[in-house]
Amino acid sequence: MSSNNGTSPMKGLILSGGKGTRMRPITHTAAKQLLPVANKPILFYGIEALIDAGIREIGIIISPETGEDVKQCVGDGSRWGIRIEYILQAEPLGLAHAVKTGREFLGDSPFVMYLGDNLIKDGVGPLVERFKKGGNDAFLLLKEVPNPTSFGVAVLKADGRIDFLEEKPAKPKSNLALVGVYLFNPKIHDAIDQIKPSRRGELEITDAIQKLIDLGHNVDSHILKSWWLDTGKKDDMLEANRVVLDEMTDISNDGDCDEASRVSGRVHIGKGSKLVNCTVRGPAIIGEDCLLENSYVGPFSSIGDGARVSHAEIEHCILREKCQIIDFHGRIADSLIGVNVELTRSGSKPQAYRLMLGDDSKVEVV
Ligand code: TTP
Repeated sequence: MSSNNGTSPMKGLILSGGKGTRMRPITHTAAKQLLPVANKPILFYGIEALIDAGIREIGIIISPETGEDVKQCVGDGSRWGIRIEYILQAEPLGLAHAVKTGREFLGDSPFVMYLGDNLIKDGVGPLVERFKKGGNDAFLLLKEVPNPTSFGVAVLKADGRIDFLEEKPAKPKSNLALVGVYLFNPKIHDAIDQIKPSRRGELEITDAIQKLIDLGHNVDSHILKSWWLDTGKKDDMLEANRVVLDEMTDISNDGDCDEASRVSGRVHIGKGSKLVNCTVRGPAIIGEDCLLENSYVGPFSSIGDGARVSHAEIEHCILREKCQIIDFHGRIADSLIGVNVELTRSGSKPQAYRLMLGDDSKVEVV
């Protein structure tokens, strides 16, 4: 049975709810989708990918805990000249549950579902075009991974269409993981209505897609050759930051560097930022209104607006807005440091580490 997906405009559904348990403590106070990669919220990469694919109506699934922050940060879409609607999912009951929650917004339109904590290098434009031409009821983006047991994986037929799916299989029959981008036509809603929650209590999108296949519908796929990053954990965030900085093209200095400072490689310095006697080796991004003094900023570092780094060395780090690292001995590497965090040297006796760390914080000392 062939489907015509080109008759009504595609919509976008971005999932920005969930719990973010793997990113605690950062996600105790912030939505993981708003964490910055190269000083831009992860969620913006997804929104912009959908806009580049010609999508003008986007619904964002939000949670009661972080929904207001997401709304405030993203706005109504006018900055991109599109319309963004927010859809509250009262509980994170699974990706298929999120689609169910977005049913009214989606109407009978075909849509791209995009996981708000995922980043892919190549946009979704060519996939949208292929899907619109018809013939398929769902279209999945896949990527070869070394550890398929951690993902939903797809087993393909000889013609590239999906034979069947497995969720986190103990003995995987394929190394093709489902990347967080899915294209559906309205048949997915009937399939979701026919599935039950999984053992972990969630309505799984893999079960819904399997149901589509079992009902005889066509599910095709494309294997991504370029990078894809799922920013679920700290090291994933740092990897995303590394990869995006590595491809950064906006190399400009809108700040003020004194003569003693050395800036080499691809570096962007935001306006109002001041560097005094610093060495910066790119790729790196320094936000607006930062003060960096007598410090070293090494490759793959992103420093948020209003941060201060003084007599310190950092490398391969994400420093969020307004954090302060002052007179800190030893290089800080591979670290994600939250908004307003202070790392300073104390002159008072007895000499000791004095810490105030939130639940689930992690500190490694040498
Ligand atoms: P996950 O990373 O699978 O789930 P999570 O955000 O709850 O994270 P953790 O495993 O660390 O607890 O979710 C993928 C994306 O989908 C993410 O952006 C959150 C979003 N999501 C929803 O919007 N609703 C949901 O019901 C679920 C499960 C996820």
